[in-house]
Amino acid sequence: MSRSKIVAGNWKMNKTLNEGIEFIQVLKESMPELNHTKVVVGMPFIHLASASTHLNGKFSIAAQNCHHEIQGAFTGEISAARIQSTGAEYVILGHSERRQYFKETDELILKKLRSALDQGLTPIFCCGEPLDIREDDSHVAYVNEQMENSIFQLSNEEIRKIIIAYEPIWAIGTGKTASSAQAQEMHKEIRISLADNFTLAIANDIHILYGGSCSPANAEELFSQEDVDGGLIGGASLKTSDFLELIRIAESIH
Ligand code: 13P
Repeated sequence: MSRSKIVAGNWKMNKTLNEGIEFIQVLKESMPELNHTKVVVGMPFIHLASASTHLNGKFSIAAQNCHHEIQGAFTGEISAARIQSTGAEYVILGHSERRQYFKETDELILKKLRSALDQGLTPIFCCGEPLDIREDDSHVAYVNEQMENSIFQLSNEEIRKIIIAYEPIWAIGTGKTASSAQAQEMHKEIRISLADNFTLAIANDIHILYGGSCSPANAEELFSQEDVDGGLIGGASLKTSDFLELIRIAESIH
């Protein structure tokens, strides 16, 4: 079995419109030939429509959230259907920052997942434990519960279409990365749970990305783990040189 790698950036709430488009232009011009790696750039809503005019089949773009209804009187919200209309193909859902600061629950995330799938977007579903849970050694049970309440409610057809990102909260933006052994342990547990809840074939096909202070300095070791299929990258996705290096590393590991 051989899964391709995915390098997905998450700009979070960074970059003006011009800065974002400049980044996309450099990425487009500098992207190496890729045979085993998929590249996705997750950006604020304001960039999606312009960025999609620069797509050349070498990378795709993602939104970082969506509302669960298709349309209607929800001032200030953006639905999966609106995202799809920009040319974006992916949407990051359930990021720990949305869970923490915007009180998103597993149940709400499940509604968003279904809406994104209905509109033909590929969700990048995030899960991961806070530091106290890790220190208590209950991280596997914690992540399993997050999945139980959300992605494990999907059908076999639906689950095949999602990407999972394991992002331990204590490693996000802290410079403290999970060790490759810690990442591999959790990714393997996620895959075992997928096999238990769906089928072994589905579990083996689904991409599971690692996120949390992933950088050119540690990516090679992380991406080399058997169940780590690439990364969801925050800080290091903001600089084209770092992001391109991460892409090269992923491509070289296959
Ligand atoms: P950092 O790479 O900045 O730790 O962020 C990870 C993340 O949250 C990606 O979604």
